[in-house]
Amino acid sequence: MAKIIDGKAISAQIRAEIAAEVASMPVKPGLSVIIVGDDPASKVYVRNKHKACGEVGIRSEVIELPASATQEELDAVIDRLNADESVSGILCQLPLPKGLSEDEVIARIDPKKDVDAFSAVNVGHIMLGDPVFLPCTPAGVMELLKRSGVEVKGKSCVVVGRSNIVGKPMAMLLLKADGTVTVCHSKTADLKAVTSAADILVVAIGRAKFITADMVKEGAAVIDVGMDRDENGRLCGDVDFDAVSEKAGYITPVPGGVGPMTITMLLKNTVAAAKLQAGEKNQ
Ligand code: GUN
Repeated sequence: MAKIIDGKAISAQIRAEIAAEVASMPVKPGLSVIIVGDDPASKVYVRNKHKACGEVGIRSEVIELPASATQEELDAVIDRLNADESVSGILCQLPLPKGLSEDEVIARIDPKKDVDAFSAVNVGHIMLGDPVFLPCTPAGVMELLKRSGVEVKGKSCVVVGRSNIVGKPMAMLLLKADGTVTVCHSKTADLKAVTSAADILVVAIGRAKFITADMVKEGAAVIDVGMDRDENGRLCGDVDFDAVSEKAGYITPVPGGVGPMTITMLLKNTVAAAKLQAGEKNQ
């Protein structure tokens, strides 16, 4: 039976560390979150981010724009936040309503305030192995592994999914930690052969219970980034938790695994952004 990696408990521990650090800062970090339209899932994520900021002493504001907002209006909000010294971090919740460009938004946010680490500049730093901001979800996964005592060095690491938000940066962080990394996706031939060889398996494809026990190596660490709904409408991950937990060595549940860590890493990045900007001001 696998050891269950408790993302909520690990998250609480790290948030307490962040709160202590924020308490010692003379000027508190500030996060501005933009949400466009009224996608219900996005609203929940944004509310959770706002609440988490308050709990660690980070100032935060949520800027709500209607789904009918134009690109120019959205750009103007970003320009104003870029110029505002009291704003340490800017995040625009994705996906955006049709007609608005995510690429444009990501490119417009000042890289020094890009706490999602989505911009080409920050992705470049990650690719070069010297990140300024760590990508939130992959960084959360790395913390879960570290704080659960799972060593990455020399291990066979398989990432299922190649998105810009999770799969690609995840591969970079595992590589930086000296893992031997393979990235799989929907066109991978014989996926099972690849996943079955993984000591560490990170799954981020957005398909409910897609990874079954026969695709997992005995004793592997299985990290589930999925947030899906099963046939009964219940929240579940990309991994068939009940069956895989009988075979894996470590496993993250959904909910309560990776999810809480993503927000925790966002808080960490917001503190890092405030320090970066304060350092530049004092030079
Ligand atoms: N939508 C889903 N995940 C994320 C995230 O990490 N950041 C932003 N900005 N939007 C998202």
